[in-house]
Amino acid sequence: MTALPPEPEFGAPTPLPEPNDAVLRFLALRRSASAANLSAPGPDADQLADILRLATRVPDHGKLAPWRFVILEGEAKGAFVAGLEAIAEAAPDAEKLKGALFKVRIPPLTIAVISSPAAGKIPLWEQQLSAGAVCTTLCLAAQAMGFGANWITDWYAVDPAARALLGVGDGEQVAGYVHIGSIAEPPLERVRPDVAAITTRWSEG
Ligand SMILES: Cc1cc2nc3c(=O)[nH]c(=O)nc-3n(C[C@H](O)[C@H](O)[C@H](O)COP(=O)(O)O)c2cc1C
Repeated sequence: MTALPPEPEFGAPTPLPEPNDAVLRFLALRRSASAANLSAPGPDADQLADILRLATRVPDHGKLAPWRFVILEGEAKGAFVAGLEAIAEAAPDAEKLKGALFKVRIPPLTIAVISSPAAGKIPLWEQQLSAGAVCTTLCLAAQAMGFGANWITDWYAVDPAARALLGVGDGEQVAGYVHIGSIAEPPLERVRPDVAAITTRWSEG
């Protein structure tokens, strides 16, 4: 059960930032789960609506909302995976492609995030970055609700027939398949970058 505050009215003041140890702890320790470990139950309809609402509160240059969601769940998800299997079957490396499908088959809920950029003065790259922010925030929202989440792409994000099966249009890209479900085992910590090694301080001359 989630208890989000109501969406603020347009123009209403939002809360001033204040220290929030629970959020900091969550960010310091959260990890993605392996898609293979995501089991039922996934989010219910209310939780899914909340996750989608939270994921759209991302930085978005020009307020274009240049992204959209395709929900894959239940029997429809099974049919989608069967469609991917048929596409894989026709490929020279069929076994390899089919072998990758467990990641989309197993999780109870998958949200495909489609980068759907608008023409105009906002650079394409920035609109695509915003779609990435949506994927990240989907993971954060699901994890904050107590679910495991995994953002993947894999061959079916770029294969023309798989794109058509999903309903991806010309000019659109699959930013990610975000898989969500319950997890029983804690994900293990992974290798992390050396922050100092990737950080410099700009100085004149
Ligand atoms: C755009 C994008 C695509 C990804 N695609 C895959 C993928 O196809 N297969 C995979 O195993 N991990 C993929 N990952 C990596 C996982 O989502 C995740 O970042 C990684 O497992 C560790 O994440 P964590 O730091 O949240 O635990 C992708 C990540 C990004 C950002």
